[in-house]
Amino acid sequence: MSCDQVRALLRPRSIAVVGASRNPRKIGHRILANVLSSGFPRDCVFPVNPNAGEVLGLRCYPSVRDVPVPIDLAVIAVPAAVVPQVLEDCGARGVKAVAIISSGFKEVGNIEAERRLVEIARKYKFRILGPNIVGIWDTVARVNVSFIDVNPLPGGIALISQSGALIASLLWWTRERGIGFSSLVSIGNRADVSEADLLEFFREDPHTRVVAIYMEGLGEGEGRRFLEAAYETARVKPVVVLKAGRSPQAARAARSHTGSLAGSDEAYEAAFKQAGILRAQSLGELLNWSLALAMAKEPADGGVVVLTHGGGAGVIAADVLGRWGVKLMDIPPDLAERLRRYMPPFGSTLNPVDLTGMMTGEDLRGALLELLRDDRVGAVLVWAGQGAIPTPQELRMAIQGAVAEAGLGKPLVASITGGEECRSAIRELIEAGIPCYESPEDAASALAAICTYYRGRGKMRGELLHARGDEEVVREIISRAVREERALLTPIESFEVAKAYGVPVVEAGLAKDEEEAVKLARALGYPVALAVETPDVPHKTEVGGIILNLNSDSEVIDAFHRVLRNVKSKAPDARILGVSIRKMMPRGVEVFVGARRDPVFGPLVAFGWGGVAVELLRDVSFRLAPLSSGDVEEMISETKIGRLLRGYRGRPLDEGAVKQAIIAVASLMEEFSVIGEIDVNPMFVYEHGAAAVDVKVYLRARR
Ligand code: ACO
Repeated sequence: MSCDQVRALLRPRSIAVVGASRNPRKIGHRILANVLSSGFPRDCVFPVNPNAGEVLGLRCYPSVRDVPVPIDLAVIAVPAAVVPQVLEDCGARGVKAVAIISSGFKEVGNIEAERRLVEIARKYKFRILGPNIVGIWDTVARVNVSFIDVNPLPGGIALISQSGALIASLLWWTRERGIGFSSLVSIGNRADVSEADLLEFFREDPHTRVVAIYMEGLGEGEGRRFLEAAYETARVKPVVVLKAGRSPQAARAARSHTGSLAGSDEAYEAAFKQAGILRAQSLGELLNWSLALAMAKEPADGGVVVLTHGGGAGVIAADVLGRWGVKLMDIPPDLAERLRRYMPPFGSTLNPVDLTGMMTGEDLRGALLELLRDDRVGAVLVWAGQGAIPTPQELRMAIQGAVAEAGLGKPLVASITGGEECRSAIRELIEAGIPCYESPEDAASALAAICTYYRGRGKMRGELLHARGDEEVVREIISRAVREERALLTPIESFEVAKAYGVPVVEAGLAKDEEEAVKLARALGYPVALAVETPDVPHKTEVGGIILNLNSDSEVIDAFHRVLRNVKSKAPDARILGVSIRKMMPRGVEVFVGARRDPVFGPLVAFGWGGVAVELLRDVSFRLAPLSSGDVEEMISETKIGRLLRGYRGRPLDEGAVKQAIIAVASLMEEFSVIGEIDVNPMFVYEHGAAAVDVKVYLRARR
C-alpha cells in the first residue's frame, strides 16, 4: 500500500460522509457532526444521503458519484447490505480510501460479504479501513472521523487498535492525563488495511514518535509481512504492542470479537522479539511506555540514577529496573559530594539516592539539576511523594525547574505519589514534556522500556541463515510418502531428511530380515539399537517397537522377532517395512530441536532441553524462520540448557553442532512447505559433535 493512500485515509483533504443521517441520534449524523466540529474545513466535507437535501447546514448528495470535487476519504455508515453498492460508487468517483464503520461482516460470520468488499476495492484500486470500526482521529489533520464526540490531545503516539470501544474509552482516559496522539486508528476486521500498512506510514511520519498497537490477532499467512514492517519501523522509532488472547479462553473471545485467527502465543512472542517490538502485558503498560517513549531522548552512555526522598520507593523502582536488566550506576565520589549539599547527613548518595523526608523543593531541584547536568548519568528516575515537606505543586515546580535549567538531554521519568493534588501535578509535568506517573513501579517500567528499546535498537537481526542441503534426497523421500498418502515419514526416512540438511544424526540402516539386521549391526559396531520401521507409529516405545543396547548377533536376532511380535499385537494395522539398526550412542546432554507451522507466521522453530521431560521442563526458546545469526544466538542464550552447553560448571559442549541442527530444521521447513512438523528429540550433544537419536517428520494434510 502506498503511503499516499494511508495519507488519504488519515490526513485527507476532502471527506464524504456516506449515510449522513438527518437523525442526530444516528451514527452517520454523529460522524458528520464530529468531522465538522473537529476543525476540519467545512467546505471540504460532503454529506451523502439519497433521502436528504441538507444535513447540518450542508448540501447532501444522493451518491458519492455526484460529489463535485475529488474525494480523498469516504467514511461509510450505512447498513452492511448497502455497503457494496456504496463502494462501487466510491470506485466510480475515484475515491482514494474508504473507512467502513458498518458492522455485520466477518465478525458475525459473513466472510463472503467481507471478501466482496475487498474485491470491489481491488477492482478500483482504493483501500478499505475496517469494516466494523469506530473511526479515525488525527491531530495533524485536525480531524475526528468517528461517532465519538471527543478529540484527543496532540502528541507523539500513533495508536492502532483492533478494538473500537477500547480506543473510544482511551480517548477520555488519556485526555484526562494529558497524554497526546498523532493518530488513533480503529482497524476493526482488517479486511484490507492492516497494522503493517499503518506501520509503514507511521515509520515515515515526522509527527509520530512511537507506534502503539492493541492487537487480538493477525490473519492467516500475514505474520511475515507484519514482522518485516514492524522490524523496519522499530529500527527508526519504538513499536509497543499489547497482544491480547494469550489464554485459550481469551483467544476464543478474540476470535468472536474481530474474527481474527489466534495463531500460537509462542509465535507472536517470537515475532515481537525478532522485530524489536516491546510487548506490553496490560493496557497500562501500553500507554505508560508509549508516553515515556514518545517524550524520551536516547539514554546517554552511563547508568540510571534513581533519585528519591524515601527509601521504599527507591527500592521498588530498583527492583523493577533490575527485573529488566537495567543497571543502577555507581555514583562517582565527586558527584556524591555535590549531591550531599542537598541532603542531611543521614541521607544517602548510594543509588537510589535518598534525600530523606527532610527534603525541600530546593533540595529536589538542586539534586536533580546535578544529575541532569552530569554526562556520566545516562537516565534519571525521580520519585517524590505527598506528605513530605513540599506540596505536590512544589514538587512539580522543582522537577520542572531543574529541567528548564539543565534541558533534557537524557531520559527523565518522574513519579509523584499521593492524592488528587498529585494528579494535577502529574498532568502538568506531562504537558511540559516530562513523563510522570502515580506509582514508582510505573515510572520504573517506563524507564526500563526506554532503556530496553534503545539497547536493542542498534542491533541488526544479522544475516539470514540457510542450510544448503541435498534437495533431491529430501524431495524423493517426501514424494514417495505423499504418493502413499502418509502423514509421517519412517524413522530411516526422517533421519535421511534431517541429515541431508545438516542435522547430525546417529548412523542407522534398514534391515528387512534377521540376516540383514546382523550384517548391519556388525558394520555399525556393537552395541546397537533396533527399532521397527513404520510410518504409522510415531511413539515406538509405547508399542514395544524399540529395543536398546544389543551387544551380539543373537541379541539382535532375538530383538528383531520380539519387536515385530510386539508391534503386530499392539498396533496391528501398522505397515511394517522392516527394522532400523542404529548405533548405540553414548548419552550426551540432551537437547530438543523442532519446528511446526504456525497459521499466521509460518515455520516456528524451537530449541530447548530435550529428552522425555521436555513438557515438564519447558526450557524452550522459539523463533520464526528464516533465522538470522542473532536469532540462533538468542535461542541458545535464552535457555538454561544453552548455559549448560556454554560450559556452566563444566566444559563447553559443541554449540556449533547445535546451531547447525537448528538452522537445518529451519531451512527444511522453509524449503519444503509440505513438511508440517519436525521433532529432533533427543539430540545428544558432546564436547565434539552431536547425534540426533530420534527424528520425526510429519507432513501436512493436503488442502
Ligand atoms: N447512501 C447514503 N446514505 C444512505 C444510503 C446510501 N446508499 N442508503 C440509506 N442511506 C441513509 C439513510 O436514509 C439514513 O439517513 P436518514 O436517517 O436521514 O434517513 C442513513 O443513511 C443511515 O441509514 P440507516 O438505514 O438508518 O442505518 P443506521 O444508521 O440505523 O445504521 C450503521 C447504519 C450505523 C452503519 C449500522 O448498520 C451499523 O453497522 N452499526 C454498528 C456500527 C459499529 O458499531 N461499528 C463498530 C464500531 S467498533 C466498536 O466496538 C464500538
